[in-house]
Amino acid sequence: MNPFKYGCVVEGEFFCPRPELERDLAAFVKSGQNVVIQGARRMGKTSLIKRTVNSVKGVRMLYVDLYCIQTLSDFCRRVMAGVSETSEKMPFLKKAMSLVSRLRPVLSFDSMTGAPSISVDARAAGEPDSLGVTMAMIRKLASEEKLCVVFDEFQDILNLPNAQTVLAEMRSTIQFQPDTPYLFSGSVRNEMMGIFEDSDSPFFKSAVPFTVGAIDTGDLARFVVARFKKGNRVIDEETAAELVRYADSVTGDVQQLCEAIWDTTETGATISLDNINAAFELVFAREYESYGDSVRQLTPLQTSVLRAIAEASGCKIFSEEFMTKVGTSSTGALRTALARLVDKRLIYQYGGEYKFTNPFFREWIRRKM
Ligand SMILES: Nc1ncnc2c1ncn2[C@@H]1O[C@H](COP(=O)(O)OP(=O)(O)O)[C@@H](O)[C@H]1O
Ligand SMILES: [Mg+2]
Repeated sequence: MNPFKYGCVVEGEFFCPRPELERDLAAFVKSGQNVVIQGARRMGKTSLIKRTVNSVKGVRMLYVDLYCIQTLSDFCRRVMAGVSETSEKMPFLKKAMSLVSRLRPVLSFDSMTGAPSISVDARAAGEPDSLGVTMAMIRKLASEEKLCVVFDEFQDILNLPNAQTVLAEMRSTIQFQPDTPYLFSGSVRNEMMGIFEDSDSPFFKSAVPFTVGAIDTGDLARFVVARFKKGNRVIDEETAAELVRYADSVTGDVQQLCEAIWDTTETGATISLDNINAAFELVFAREYESYGDSVRQLTPLQTSVLRAIAEASGCKIFSEEFMTKVGTSSTGALRTALARLVDKRLIYQYGGEYKFTNPFFREWIRRKM
């Protein structure tokens, strides 16, 4: 069994402990503090939140994933999906259903697992009052037992056509629940910042900021050594630290790289940096179609900019050298191409530099394009 997992929430032995973050977040949950959790994709926000909230005794987590919602109806359905997941306890589900009867909820049971789930009528959930109904349900449930409400990928609220009105209405319910901790988590920095730091946003200064950054390289390297040992491989701490750096210290990318290394080595093997190449090839093979899809949507200039950034380490974006590499003399065209690449979330700006969101994609561009 591969001792590494990626692409899903990790728990138990797959989770590298983050004692300070876990302690601080747990303290906020216990005190009913609202928190805005911010961090790049795959840093481990969702795993940290689920593990921490589940560890706080006497608190029930209502976890709502807002990833890629597009309509108010999506929002309501995601909340009900969160309610369904929260517990097998029937009374809770029944209570929740009675509170949203306006949305014509239906209880069904998964034919394979038997797990109950609540669905709501898509049309009813799209009516303007469905937000109020849903938020009121959460408030009522929270008044009867201690809830911790998690809105994950919260920035995607901004996809809704009337996002500011939705935010204002959410805020007006939430502010009357001083004892219920709400955790708002998001990965798109500027959008999350806009919601919580713009003075005219309904959520302005309404939650304590909390950052989930990279795990300390030494801690993560020791975790990697122990996991490889569990999987019958040997690696020393220095090589493990180098692996962490290869994956830009992004928690999930480190796991993905390690998973591929484990997969391409034999029982008893000693892992060296030479094994990384084979691992990269495996990652590339698995991601082949998605990388291809990304590149197909780009103009030749945009691809060329990506290639230059992938190779650029330390080279200034508007320098002569960089422009030559890209093959353009127009700073305007370069600026537009960069903006499009940021829009597509392939790169992001960080301290005056542009970086790839995904280090494997960067390597693929560098090696294959
Ligand atoms: N504490 C951790 N220890 C080990 N791996 C982790 C940890 N947190 C996250 N990961 C890895 O990162 C991946 C993404 O984690 P996730 O919690 O979904 O991150 P985020 O919500 O920030 O995108 C997981 O699939 C797992 O491989
Ligand atoms: Mg997440």
